[in-house]
Amino acid sequence: MTLNNRIIFLSAVIALSFVLASPAVAENCKQKRKTPKAPNKIYKQANPLKATPENISAGEKIYAKGAKPLACVQCHGVKGKGDGKMAKGMKPNPRDFSCQAMMNKIPDGQLYWVIKNGSKGTGMMGFKALSEDQIWQVVSYIRQFSN
Ligand code: HEC
Repeated sequence: MTLNNRIIFLSAVIALSFVLASPAVAENCKQKRKTPKAPNKIYKQANPLKATPENISAGEKIYAKGAKPLACVQCHGVKGKGDGKMAKGMKPNPRDFSCQAMMNKIPDGQLYWVIKNGSKGTGMMGFKALSEDQIWQVVSYIRQFSN
C-alpha cells in the first residue's frame, strides 16, 4: 500500500466506526408519555391484519377523513408528527407517530386500545364508532410514519 492509499484506507475505517457507533434511531424525539397501559391481554395482541396496501390505504382514509367526530389528522398531522391544526397548545401533545424510538416501544395492542377508548383527561378521545378491523387498519397506517 502506498502512503496515500493507507491514509484513504484509515480514513474509511474511522468514518465507518463513527457510523457504527451512532444509534440507529434518534432518541430525542421521544415524548413524555403518561398514557394508561392497556389491559395485558389487549396490550400483547399483535395486529391480526397484514399491512397490505389495501389495509394501509383503508387506514389512511379513516385517519385523514373518516374518523368521527374528528379525523386523526386534525391533531396528529399529515405526517403523523403530532402537529395537526388542532394540536397547538394541547397538553399533553398528540402522539408523534414519526418518532421511531418511541413508536418501536409501543405495541400494536396498546395503539388499538387507546384508539378505541381514548386517554382520559387528554385531547385523545375514544373512537367507539370504528369497527375492530377499521382500528387495526388505522394502526397499520400510523406505523407507516415511523417505518
Ligand atoms: C382532538 C385531538 C386528537 C384527535 C382527533 C386524535 N388524537 Fe390521538 N392523541 C391525541 C393526544 C393529545 C394524545 C396523547 C394522549 C396521552 O398522552 O395520553 C393522543 C394519543 C394517541 C395515541 C397514543 C397511544 C399511546 O399509548 O401512546 C394513538 C395511537 C392515537 N392518539 C391515535 C389516534 C387515531 C388513530 C386517531 C383518529 C382515529 C386520533 N388519535 C385522533 C389527540 C388526538
